[in-house]
Amino acid sequence: MNPLPPSPVLPPLCRRLGIRHPVFGFSHSADVCVEIARAGGFPVMGLSREMPEEIPGILRDLDARMNGLPYGVDLMLPPNVPEDARLETLRTELPAAHTAFVDRLREEFAIEPPARPSFFTSHVRSRKLFDEQIEQVLASGALGVATAIGLREDFIHRAKAAGKVTFSLVGSTRHARKALEMGVDVLVAQGYDAGGHTGPVGTMSLVPQILEVAGGTPVLAAGGIATGAQVLGAVSMGAHGAWLGTLWMAAAESHTPPALLKRLADSRSEDTVITRAHSGKPCRVVRSEWISAWERAGSPAPLGMPLQQVLTGDIFAAVHEQDRPDLIYEAAGQSVFAIRGETTVREQMETLVTELRLAWDRMTSMAQRPTDISTDR
Ligand SMILES: Cc1cc2nc3c(=O)[nH]c(=O)nc-3n(C[C@H](O)[C@H](O)[C@H](O)COP(=O)(O)O)c2cc1C
Repeated sequence: MNPLPPSPVLPPLCRRLGIRHPVFGFSHSADVCVEIARAGGFPVMGLSREMPEEIPGILRDLDARMNGLPYGVDLMLPPNVPEDARLETLRTELPAAHTAFVDRLREEFAIEPPARPSFFTSHVRSRKLFDEQIEQVLASGALGVATAIGLREDFIHRAKAAGKVTFSLVGSTRHARKALEMGVDVLVAQGYDAGGHTGPVGTMSLVPQILEVAGGTPVLAAGGIATGAQVLGAVSMGAHGAWLGTLWMAAAESHTPPALLKRLADSRSEDTVITRAHSGKPCRVVRSEWISAWERAGSPAPLGMPLQQVLTGDIFAAVHEQDRPDLIYEAAGQSVFAIRGETTVREQMETLVTELRLAWDRMTSMAQRPTDISTDR
């Protein structure tokens, strides 16, 4: 498939990475990533939910399917996780009140256990797991490596030495300074509007602050962005592009469970909420009855990361596997407003680029020339 005609604006980072549009797409689906790359954007595949033993095969396949097109991969590296941990052991250490609460919800909502093993039913985030993921990513053909929720200086240095471009998702100037000190190549300013783990500052206010501390380091804008006019808006603020996550869940290539796609299409920005009930850290998700149950009077406060997922990971897996219309939820940003129903990545990229071009034409047609300004009055 041919790439789309190039965008009218292409900031230096895009040229350096060899892409045709200032669109960076985060997805957990390899099929989405391949299509973003083919259309001329920069895809970043999330690996944090993959079974560790499957990651080498996933990366080999991805590399082959990309056929030389540039792409990145992403890891979540939160600090303060156990050195090494087994799910079964941690399960026995969960507070009894939390286990009883979740058991009551299991019964109330008649949730059957998931049939298939997944990351959420068989793994715990630990330092040992991250070490393994880092080795796998360093050995891959990915041009970009992104990290979220935490930073590992050894990883940044080794990735750079291997010729990779390093990206760090940051939600505050404090995070940005830390990433710059470690030598990160690209800061992704991810605002409160974003799907997934997020801080308290909205994208529109965060981007200028990150640009100020970034100096010459390129910045991307993330969170709440789902139209080409917004992408141009980010570039006009000084960002080198926009990083989108939620939007791709509407693409057939995302393989989003039908009940979740319906929920996303029916939701407006205000139907997304920040909760600790998913992972233990503040995370913007689209609301479902499962999320609301944690907000009822008398519900316990969620546990921290990684214990909250030890407690509830099987339920997240079950409601996805069983496509439960009442309970299914997922990380989703205020950008959910742009999801109207199922589409394809190609159509999404065409729409983004067309909207960007229209916004560019609108802006340039408004440019004032000295002769336009009447001095008579
Ligand atoms: C379903 C989903 C899962 C996500 N998982 C991760 C992740 O594993 N690692 C990461 O760096 N960001 C993750 N994010 C955040 C995205 O990288 C991105 O910053 C965010 O989606 C941007 O905001 P938007 O959703 O409004 O487009 C996730 C986002 C979504 C919607």
